[in-house]
Amino acid sequence: MAIIAPSILSADFARLGEELAALTAAGADWIHIDVMDGHFVPNLTIGPPVIKALRPHTPLPFDVHLMIAQPNGYLEDFAEAGAQVISVQAEACTHLHRTLQSIRRLGRTPGVALNPATPLENIFFVLEEVELVLLMTVNPGYGGQEFIDAVVPKIECLREIIDKNGLNIKIETDGGINEETVAKAARAGCDIFVAGTAILGAGDYAAAIANLRRIIARAQMEKRSEMV
Ligand code: DX5
Ligand code: ZN
Repeated sequence: MAIIAPSILSADFARLGEELAALTAAGADWIHIDVMDGHFVPNLTIGPPVIKALRPHTPLPFDVHLMIAQPNGYLEDFAEAGAQVISVQAEACTHLHRTLQSIRRLGRTPGVALNPATPLENIFFVLEEVELVLLMTVNPGYGGQEFIDAVVPKIECLREIIDKNGLNIKIETDGGINEETVAKAARAGCDIFVAGTAILGAGDYAAAIANLRRIIARAQMEKRSEMV
């Protein structure tokens, strides 16, 4: 089953608690939280105290995407604040293997994120340490950007590696996911779909989520029937 993870980057920040409750009622699976530090990406967003304050507003897992230059010193804070999944950007980690091990030691799900320009090869030797690979389909920093088609073969390639080696890793795509692009990501083998603008920019969150789910299911079915 596809996992839909609305990104609260596009939410009304003055009403974040209510937004989480609305997304939960609308059928979201995870809540994607974009943490930006003004160094790794130009934008600044939120940190552990806000995540902690949001924790009681939904039972859904918090999928925390760290777009920060020095994640090591903050992992414990994010774990304590209530993050279930913690993904770090491979480009930001000099000792990526160690960072991923630290996330696991904190009892959280380790994920690694790759910018569109970063080759998959950069994570080949840490695949045993992750349960999730987040393939950015925009350059990180802002919501509402256009999906980069060149990442689709990267999704397909990772899908093949995971399936051939029987790895227990989920593929997540993030950036520019909407009614048109979600089918491309689904066909390519994505499991977890982050969407900010496409869900929170829609008047009816439940309808937007249901619509994405329908398109994903159709694309996956078409792909399967082509393979037999
Ligand atoms: C971009 C963030 C994304 C972003 C997605 O740096 O990682 O999660 O919020 O927003 P949309 O779906 O609007 O592209
Ligand atoms: Zn994100």
